[in-house]
Amino acid sequence: MARLKHQLPQLDELLPLMKFKLPTLDRRAARLASAANIWDLRKIAKRRTPTPAFDYTDGAAQDETTLNRSYQLFREITLIPKILHSTPEVDLSTTIAGGLSSLPFGIAPTGFTRFMQSEGEEAGASAAAKAGIPFSLSTMGTRSVEEVARVSEAKKNSKPGSGRRWFQLYLWKDREASKDLLERAQKEGFDTLLVTVDTPVAGQRLRDTRNGMTIPPQLTAKTVLDASYRPEWWFNFLTTDPLTFASLSDTAADLPTILNSMFDPSLSIEDLKWIREVWKGPLFVKGILTPADTRRAVDAGADGLIVSNHGGRQLDRCPVSIQALTEVRKEAGPDVEIILDSGVMSGADIVAALGLGADFVIVGRAYLYGLMAGGEQGVDKTIQLLAEEVRNAMLLMGTRTIEDLKNSGQVIAPWLDKNDDNVEA
Ligand code: GLV
Repeated sequence: MARLKHQLPQLDELLPLMKFKLPTLDRRAARLASAANIWDLRKIAKRRTPTPAFDYTDGAAQDETTLNRSYQLFREITLIPKILHSTPEVDLSTTIAGGLSSLPFGIAPTGFTRFMQSEGEEAGASAAAKAGIPFSLSTMGTRSVEEVARVSEAKKNSKPGSGRRWFQLYLWKDREASKDLLERAQKEGFDTLLVTVDTPVAGQRLRDTRNGMTIPPQLTAKTVLDASYRPEWWFNFLTTDPLTFASLSDTAADLPTILNSMFDPSLSIEDLKWIREVWKGPLFVKGILTPADTRRAVDAGADGLIVSNHGGRQLDRCPVSIQALTEVRKEAGPDVEIILDSGVMSGADIVAALGLGADFVIVGRAYLYGLMAGGEQGVDKTIQLLAEEVRNAMLLMGTRTIEDLKNSGQVIAPWLDKNDDNVEA
């Protein structure tokens, strides 16, 4: 063992190393500053959110097999570096659905968002507008199309894509009600429609059943105890306007009842064709996982597809989006835009999706973890973490633009066969 020669510490050498930060009064900022990735935000979110709301977000259907496989398969993807390609900076902007986005990802539609944290959709719409990325409002959102439009216009800036808003539709039996909603969304400047087709019924979310999850939450002994650990959540919940849905009439019921009242197992491809006639802007069909469904959706008039398993929340054991993407891209050909959704927790996942044939990515849970961890500042943090991770991976891969990345052949997945072109068909 080498012998170390010790000496007394010199004060003038020590002083410059001593950097005691003044304690900050902004507890939220301090909390968020300690998060190095989305998984860290998830940990903070879990501490700060009542169990039923956290589990509703974090959980998935049945054994949560599809969700866990999604996380696993993303980890099995290899990103190939390229050295000395002079890449002083990268451009993360791209185009999607006939418009720009400053980053290659946007915010996915999520239901009951103000239940996760009181700032809800307004925090998401505001953070998205500031970052120049699209925000999607769900039919089951807890702010109306008018309220979201107001926030997104107010926060609009000069970044490409700032203020873009998309609307997600669950089609109801009552076509007139759906039509009214679409007209309201169009009038409020929502430029793209996402039609979700993987919900003939709600998936069986066992955590919600076990938690006796109801909307609004019932004040049982358990919830009162929970409130003693999470005073801020409860204070905000009880002192802001009651939860109402963007598009439904007011409801108070257990969750499976609310969800199933929304969904309609008798929907068919004819209903999709009907929406295509009603909605004049870009239309993406959300919930595509197979070549056969790719063909049906494109033939029914879809402009784009969202490869999604609903975050593993519908049919457990169904295909994992990142794996299904390859086959969907082959069937759709190069001209149909494809967005990837489900299981995305890092910038490397986004890079992987873009390299394997997606044009764009949307994030649901990652956004909600940020929201639950720190309201709008937490959503800012999610966007900032993901953008930094994408930028860092692209610099290390020697790719300058999203287009370069998509055509680079530098993303390898174990399920690609050797002759597969892993870029756009
Ligand atoms: C709603 O879209 C849900 O997945 O709960």
